[in-house]
Amino acid sequence: MPGEDGSVRVALLGCGTVGSEVTRVLIDDADELAARIGAKVELAGIAVRRPDKHPELPQHLLTADAGALVESDVDVVVELIGGIEPVRDWLLTALRKGKAVVTANKALLSEHSAELAEAAGISGADLYYEASVAGAIPLLRPLRESLAGDRITRVMGIVNGTTNYILSAMDSTGAGYADTLDEASRLGYAEADPTADVDGYDAASKAAILASLAFHTRVTASDVHREGIAGISASDIAAARLLNRTVKLLAICERVQADDGTESVSARVHPVMIPRTHQLAGVNGAFNAVYVEADAAGELMFYGQGAGGAPTASAVLGDLVAAARNRVAGGRGPRESAHAALPVRPMGQTPTRYHISLDVADRAGVLAQVAQAFATHDVSIAAVRQRDRTSTASLVIVTHSAPDAALRATVEEIGKLDVVREVVSVMRVEGEDS
Ligand code: HSE
Repeated sequence: MPGEDGSVRVALLGCGTVGSEVTRVLIDDADELAARIGAKVELAGIAVRRPDKHPELPQHLLTADAGALVESDVDVVVELIGGIEPVRDWLLTALRKGKAVVTANKALLSEHSAELAEAAGISGADLYYEASVAGAIPLLRPLRESLAGDRITRVMGIVNGTTNYILSAMDSTGAGYADTLDEASRLGYAEADPTADVDGYDAASKAAILASLAFHTRVTASDVHREGIAGISASDIAAARLLNRTVKLLAICERVQADDGTESVSARVHPVMIPRTHQLAGVNGAFNAVYVEADAAGELMFYGQGAGGAPTASAVLGDLVAAARNRVAGGRGPRESAHAALPVRPMGQTPTRYHISLDVADRAGVLAQVAQAFATHDVSIAAVRQRDRTSTASLVIVTHSAPDAALRATVEEIGKLDVVREVVSVMRVEGEDS
């Protein structure tokens, strides 16, 4: 229940670009928020590492002691610090004491959601985290609430703006990866240390959160197969262009049904060639977009700004309003739903399709040898295109769906054939050619 004066008291942990926007709205729009919630929201304290470095914030609210602020008389803890420790401890303490938690911390959620959900479940506290995936885009609430009566089969999308910016730029300029990353850093689209983004860690954390919600199953970041974009070359992009495709780093979460009817979940992050006519192909620059397929709803697409101070603050404030309304009404939001507990299928067994571009000797029997490698691994070929050069030919092969391990083994065998001069590009493909 709200405090004695009827207000909902909020502790803010961390005050960078998102936190300062949250603070601004809580102060400037206090009356409007109070009207929507049915009670005043009182910012009770802001924990920052160095209070003396924040002259722009209300000084009486600042503290360097986040732990004490969490333990104080607050109803909601909004966490915008990031990282695992010591944040994990603070949030567990808050939840155990029945305080609602609103967080954008994808790394923490994708590793420790089970213990956070358990703590929230025991005390009856709310745990909201809309801002942890795809910034401003309302996505987790639709998965958790709007589609709670449907059966989601697939969630696929662009959930990392940095890599999307780099791949879009490589596609439009024809430049290589290293030059494009340098340019992205110079323009502020990539962090000084871009590892979490370009190696796919950020997207893998988000995929784990999406898969957990979509399939009512606990999926952690370590369950997600992860490949980044550092290996994407200008030749890969050019090979895609020849097929009227483009390359995107996608998070793909699927409910997979085996022949015997048993179900499992697959979650992966890797570069993918998609047709230029695909809805996700038109998502350029730092934007995010996520495509959801459900039995009854059919296909849905969510699009918008996936990062940045104000867009992320929008998601945080939405959660804060939800948690505050629950306090006022004396109820609570949705609990963790992990009842399905489906097994996570390893990448090797996950059905995928490959695009393989080869430079081969141009003489009789070459295609037969290449085709035999596919047959050996029981991989069916969907399309072959050949373009002749002076003494070699360029061969492009697109497969039907097969277990990823069989496709990888096929590529390895092809690479060893004498008739293959170079394996120019290997990439997974999604979506039908138009
Ligand atoms: N670093 C992320 C991105 C934003 O590039 O999309 C925060 O999740």
